[in-house]
Amino acid sequence: MKTNYRTCTCGELRLQDAGKTVTLSGWVQRVRKMGGMTFVDLRDRYGITQLVFNEDTNANLCYEANKLGREYVIQVIGKVNERYSKNANMPTGDIEIIVETLNVLNQALTPPFTIEDNTDGGDDIRMKYRYLDLRRECVRKNLELRHQMYMTVRNYLSSLGFLEVETPMLIGSTPEGARDFVVPSRMNQGQFYALPQSPQTLKQLLMVAGFDRYFQIVKCFRDEDLRADRQPEFTQIDCEMSFVSQEDIIQTFEGMAKHIFKELKGIEIEGQFLRMPWAEAMRRFGSDKPDMRFEMEFVELMDVLQLGTFAVFDNAKYIGGICASGCAEYTRKQLDQLADFVKRPQIGAKGLVYIKVLEDGSIKSSIDKFYTQEQLTIVANKMNAQPGDLILILSGEDVMKTRKQLCELRLEMGSRLGLRDPNKFALLWVTEFPMFEWSDEEQRLMAMHHPFTHPMEEDIPMLDTAPECVRADAYDMVCNGIEVGGGSIRIHDPKLQAKMFEILGFTPEKAQEQFGFLMNAFKYGAPPHGGLAYGLDRWVSILAGLDSIRDCIAFPKNNSGRDVMLDAPSQIDQKQLDELKLAIQLDK
Ligand code: AMO
Repeated sequence: MKTNYRTCTCGELRLQDAGKTVTLSGWVQRVRKMGGMTFVDLRDRYGITQLVFNEDTNANLCYEANKLGREYVIQVIGKVNERYSKNANMPTGDIEIIVETLNVLNQALTPPFTIEDNTDGGDDIRMKYRYLDLRRECVRKNLELRHQMYMTVRNYLSSLGFLEVETPMLIGSTPEGARDFVVPSRMNQGQFYALPQSPQTLKQLLMVAGFDRYFQIVKCFRDEDLRADRQPEFTQIDCEMSFVSQEDIIQTFEGMAKHIFKELKGIEIEGQFLRMPWAEAMRRFGSDKPDMRFEMEFVELMDVLQLGTFAVFDNAKYIGGICASGCAEYTRKQLDQLADFVKRPQIGAKGLVYIKVLEDGSIKSSIDKFYTQEQLTIVANKMNAQPGDLILILSGEDVMKTRKQLCELRLEMGSRLGLRDPNKFALLWVTEFPMFEWSDEEQRLMAMHHPFTHPMEEDIPMLDTAPECVRADAYDMVCNGIEVGGGSIRIHDPKLQAKMFEILGFTPEKAQEQFGFLMNAFKYGAPPHGGLAYGLDRWVSILAGLDSIRDCIAFPKNNSGRDVMLDAPSQIDQKQLDELKLAIQLDK
């Protein structure tokens, strides 16, 4: 990569280059003065090379080097020299450059935090100066992995005959799903575009158009509350196929997942991924995305604990326990911490019951008063607890809510016990999702996936009689407790689609108004089709072992949905508002 500015990068010179005259350009990472010598670490995207300035041989040049500040952009010409004291931790650690010419290409203010993997900069300041944060190797590596992900996915899908087709970013608002981000139209006053939450309907139209196998690495926008694995704009690997069944899709994308692991992590995943129906996942792990890196499965304890002696349990609809191996020695303080954890408002449990199986086999419990040792031993046996184990129990009136609370506790114990190793990967498909879920807010059934999802064939008769029991021909891929992808077989029969809208509470007119474009298209020969979308940010963050997807996005938003570097969102000029015929009315 030879240019006028450089003959080599800062990551490429080795011992066999000794004696060569080279030109390097980059940023000053660090200046160290030791006696009559000045050492400068020069950094670019490819690595760091040590530069040497010697007062004895070139006093003027050394004087100039001593004036260099951190992050100055410089160019040097010099000779590659074998280093006296080598640094085995650096790929270029065997050599240094004896500098003959130094050009300062640009000065730099002292950066607000150190540009090192172990930086002293907090989250906020790093986001404000994200372009400096991105200079850090550990952040840059994540974006390099992301690039590899794009390339791997594109090559893989293209080799299977998938075509990448771009779909518009300015589309119409559709109900169902998350809240839309909307964009006012100047040319159509009083009207709004919406940014796509996903290209769902457009990819289905591409199937009607006969494209057969589509994919797109595409930005999606959702105005929802943010979490570590959620950004308001994120990237999907969006895919759709015609003339396929659920099995075909699962095979195709399981193959892709294996390919990604092999190419990007060098990991061969043998055999088929585990598959688990939704109801089983909820029953065993209280989650539709169970973390299968560890077991700690739920055991239902209603039969052994509802004995008419303890009102809390007697009145519960659900009592479930998990067994934490080797935790019987937990102190009062540790148990209180766990109780506080489950009582946090985000989790919302009322209390936590424990049973310790001590090393001598005796039992100590927070419900000693209500149950005999024999009764508690029966519980311990049912939990398959061994001496030294700690049983943690939650109960509640709402089965699903209590299971979700127990799921949070399971994950917490998994973390405490070091069972959630980021270098271990446990993948599974969750299938047979319920078609609908009840919304207290809307007082109606809502589509759990989206309204175009096909019901499981054998459940179709129940659409009329018991829609809440109907299962969807839908599937999610889960990795380490994170939903990395999801999809479904779609409805391609206009009559079934109309019925679905009816169950979701749309009048025929409203359905026509909102989804007429799709329903009309289906009248012109729609093939059976289905697909899936992978969350690209989530994939990259799992592969890189990151805690948040923010770390693999070049310019992410913070938890309030702000870009603190660009200071967006922001107010716009009155002139722009006037052109759009918009008036702002803020809450008092
Ligand atoms: P779904 O809504 O399940 O399906 O999204 C697919 C995948 O996208 C990722 N994802 C997100 N990643 C980061 N931030 C977010 N806010 C976010 N929301 C979702 C997840 C998820 O599994 N059109 C359907 C797919 C289909 O049926 O083909 C869809 O969008 O990894």
